[in-house]
Amino acid sequence: MTTIHSPLRFITCGSVDDGKSTLIGRLLHESKSIFDDQLAALESDSRQHGTQGEDIDFALLVDGLQAEREQGITIDVAYRFFATEKRRFIVADTPGHEQYTRNMATGASTADLAIILVDARKGILTQTCRHSRIVSMMGIRHIVLAINKMDLVSFSESLFENIAADFKKFASKLGFLTIQAIPLSALDGDNVVVSGHRSPWYHGSTLLTYLEDIDISETETTGSFRMPVQSVNRPNSDFRGFCGRIAQGYIQPGDSIRILPSGQTSRIKQIVVWQGELEYAESGDSVTLTFADEVDVSRGDMIVSSAQPAQVADQFEARLLWMSSHPLMPGRTYLLKLHSKEVIATVTSIKYLEDVNSGAHLAAKSLNLNEIGVVNISLRQQIAFEPYSVNRVLGGFILIDRLTFDTVGAGMIDFALRRATNIHWQALEINRDLRARLNNQTPRCIWFTGLSGSGKSTIANLLDKRLHADGRHTYILDGDNVRHGLNRDLGFTEADRVENIRRVAEVAKLMVDAGLIVMVSFISPYASERRMARELFVEGEFIEVFVDTPLEECERRDAKGLYAKARRGELKNFTGIDSSYEPPEKPEVHLRSEIDSPETCMERILAAVSFSC
Ligand code: ADX
Repeated sequence: MTTIHSPLRFITCGSVDDGKSTLIGRLLHESKSIFDDQLAALESDSRQHGTQGEDIDFALLVDGLQAEREQGITIDVAYRFFATEKRRFIVADTPGHEQYTRNMATGASTADLAIILVDARKGILTQTCRHSRIVSMMGIRHIVLAINKMDLVSFSESLFENIAADFKKFASKLGFLTIQAIPLSALDGDNVVVSGHRSPWYHGSTLLTYLEDIDISETETTGSFRMPVQSVNRPNSDFRGFCGRIAQGYIQPGDSIRILPSGQTSRIKQIVVWQGELEYAESGDSVTLTFADEVDVSRGDMIVSSAQPAQVADQFEARLLWMSSHPLMPGRTYLLKLHSKEVIATVTSIKYLEDVNSGAHLAAKSLNLNEIGVVNISLRQQIAFEPYSVNRVLGGFILIDRLTFDTVGAGMIDFALRRATNIHWQALEINRDLRARLNNQTPRCIWFTGLSGSGKSTIANLLDKRLHADGRHTYILDGDNVRHGLNRDLGFTEADRVENIRRVAEVAKLMVDAGLIVMVSFISPYASERRMARELFVEGEFIEVFVDTPLEECERRDAKGLYAKARRGELKNFTGIDSSYEPPEKPEVHLRSEIDSPETCMERILAAVSFSC
């Protein structure tokens, strides 16, 4: 059996109520008999090209989905296969529970076409708009608007035309190449596989015929060669190969290549697959490459054509779909995964939030579940990439929460921002070590964290006095004080606290660089930001002191009367009352101020930390 087109990967968007399951069920069922033939063809294909011995290699159908699976973003997406005489199909079926958009974005990231289901009685709803925006953002360029339940509106032509026109108007700026509206009854089967006699006014194809015939020619083989390195294979000292899946272009032995981000160059010596060596490999092939020269390559690097290399940057503008019920916090560090590379990243600003219905640009301080925004992202290291519009694998990323390891966002790189790349770190001749030596001390950041009223500032002050008396050069950064100046624009929302800690951590870092012992006394309620602060310093320089005082005790002390105010409801987002505190898990020093006096607490810090040279 021959198929005339490449397989079509598609996704269905809509809820069970819209008739999604019925529609998929009918498509699968009606093509089932052909699927048996297909299975036979697949069996012979598998024997020729597969990697499963005598077994059927379904990977032959699903290749391309693998990359996403490796990126860890396949969450609850079932891929179903079916085939007709003309074509093979892979449907990403995404269950419609509360994490729906996350699954949908996952399925959409590899799909060529989306079927957007609409209930003819309801027309275009907010969720229709949301789904369309997401599939557009994920790079899908072909849409079938399946106007379902036409039997419940007497197959009204005018109603169908109105819904189709509404959708086309709404979608005009979403960059779709084709939009085909089809009147359906998934339940009765009209226009799914065979034309329905109840809609004589509809002269277009049935859904299945349309899916069989649509041309979605790939462009990925046409670009210059790009292969992200998934692993380095070194079975013995004679062989060193770099494994990955070619994401764009083609390659032959002898071709000049470049490794990004390092920029080293070499030539391809061999293209190795398990059956032997190849003379040629192209986009979609999984291969191991060896080079003519010894070059440094590690997982996450990209091997590219040396004449047309990919871009390298550490700041981007990107579109971001937020997929967590916990909002995005600009300034917080997340793990960003792009092809096989993982790097620590921060959203430095939210340029705007996109209104789901109108597409209007709205100002926003954070992104909530299912919201789409355009953001600037800054990475701790440079990475090689392509804009998402050029290549979905090389420009699509996910953001992962560093504490829970949940996938919280899906993003698409639009373009690199050059600003930071053009600012170089100025090497100063009088450095931290020289200053420290002159001060005759080891500079440190002593980071006090704990509830308001736990005793942080009292203990920090005692420590400061003692160190000063010992001739040390010190400074205290105290939340109440810094919030009068540098951070006077910040309040107590989660986003503001993240920024509060980010700034003070940077200031503390400069002070340590200046050779000082700096005590930071901030509630610093979130583990993420304390970790971010810690990562600014070299090993041993950052000392986390947890002033662990029970809430009841802090509330009993209530020196500033703030707990009473918070209890009366006059002060919102008060830590411990209606805003969370995440206790440190492994602080260097753990103090209990309701048991030990402030002096004892101070002595315990002195016992744990050395300040001499
Ligand atoms: S942090 O959470 O962002 O680290 P920071 O240490 O700067 O807080 O400021 C905490 C101080 O601000 C408290 O000691 C208290 O005096 C005052 N404050 C005013 N409003 C609040 C609030 N809603 N929650 C916590 N502290 C508050």
